[in-house]
Amino acid sequence: MKLTLLENSSDANGPKRDLIARIIGAYSGVIQLYSIVRFRIIHLRFLEEMEQYLPEDGVILDLGCGFGLFALYMAARKPRARVIGLDINSRRLNIARAAAQKLQITNVEFRQHDLNQWRPDTAIAGAYALDVFHHIAVESGNRLLNDLFARLKSGGRFLLKDIDTRPRVMLWFTYWLDVLMSPRDQFHYRSAAAWQTQLRASGFAPIYLHYLWDVLPYPHILLICDKPA
Ligand SMILES: C[S@@+](CC[C@H](N)C(=O)[O-])C[C@H]1O[C@@H](n2cnc3c(N)ncnc32)[C@H](O)[C@@H]1O
Repeated sequence: MKLTLLENSSDANGPKRDLIARIIGAYSGVIQLYSIVRFRIIHLRFLEEMEQYLPEDGVILDLGCGFGLFALYMAARKPRARVIGLDINSRRLNIARAAAQKLQITNVEFRQHDLNQWRPDTAIAGAYALDVFHHIAVESGNRLLNDLFARLKSGGRFLLKDIDTRPRVMLWFTYWLDVLMSPRDQFHYRSAAAWQTQLRASGFAPIYLHYLWDVLPYPHILLICDKPA
């Protein structure tokens, strides 16, 4: 099915928009609708930014990959890398695996882990977490950040996209969406300053904070965290 919900693909970003349309087309029903919304929220401009910060080779982790939309995008855009998506939800992972198979994207795999307990045990070239850390308890989230730093190769990079606690009205909007999507979860939002303090304590430096301003009412932040070479 050719999806026309995305902007036309005759511009320089055509191949990326086509890729997003193909990824959306690999899902069906409600998940397809969800993926359209998700690619609207984390749209091409944000994706391109994240993509340029991640390495071209080696293992890239997608922490809390959900249905695998962005793991599939990154794997397709970085054919020399191996993208590993981790999530606690086996149903989401099975849907992600089916989408990868449909799209014939082979440099991606999906594994079930609880990030409250899971610890990386091999060298990582890069990692990212999109709207996931606020689903993880603060203490285990901090431990995970420490271990990620330890396992990242020198010069490696970790991208943390999450939700700021201000403006309050935007946090409130995001909170209700989270409740709708994950009614059984508890949420542990932190301010941009609190994230920066913790990431510094975990060893990352420098850390760049980018506010992802948008027309949508999300207080998005992207933290670009380096492990010094
Ligand atoms: C808001 S969704 C984001 C999914 C994906 N990163 C995206 O941007 O589309 C949060 C994801 O975190 C996962 N998650 C929540 N708690 C988790 C945990 N303790 N361990 C692993 N994954 C978890 C959920 O299953 C869900 O897929």
